[in-house]
Amino acid sequence: MPAKPSALAPVPAPRQPSGPYRVCLVCLGNICRSPMAEVVLRDELDRAGLSGRVMVDSAGTGDWHIGEPMDSRARAELARRGYDGSAHRARQVAASWLPRYDLIVAMDASNKADLERMASRHPGTAGRIRLLRSFDPESGAQAEVPDPYSGGPQDYADALDLVLPAARALAGQLARELPGPA
Ligand code: 4NP
Repeated sequence: MPAKPSALAPVPAPRQPSGPYRVCLVCLGNICRSPMAEVVLRDELDRAGLSGRVMVDSAGTGDWHIGEPMDSRARAELARRGYDGSAHRARQVAASWLPRYDLIVAMDASNKADLERMASRHPGTAGRIRLLRSFDPESGAQAEVPDPYSGGPQDYADALDLVLPAARALAGQLARELPGPA
């Protein structure tokens, strides 16, 4: 049965009235889901005319792949759909980074719980953490992007199928809700 459409929460207000709105996409290893989402969201922001006003990066909660490029299966799935994932290098998110972001976007509930633990040390940051698919009006508020790492090419195609409409919806929401350029 399709998920019941959820009421969309507004994006967190900008931390500062001027300067770019900063978004960090977070998964476990930062070699599959969040870097795919980063490439796709940047493209959607370009299309929405927001490329100078919204900055996007990504990170993982784990440290296993720091400095590595995107998983070849993620890169291949992006390439199959016309995106270039070659520039990515994996990073691990630190709690001290959270106050730098206006919006912190987790791929699954476990990533979100890890981020919320980190946020407890930085007041004001927990309310900026969301699940990526919570922006997709066709998904439930708790919908996740499942980890494809131990799967095969189809799991990467499935992950990107979930990431794409959510990234498009997030870009649209930012275009509607962020204050216009000064
Ligand atoms: P990601 O996928 O969180 O989407 O980047 C994973 C990548 C690596 C591992 C787990 C998930 N790992 O256990 O190394």
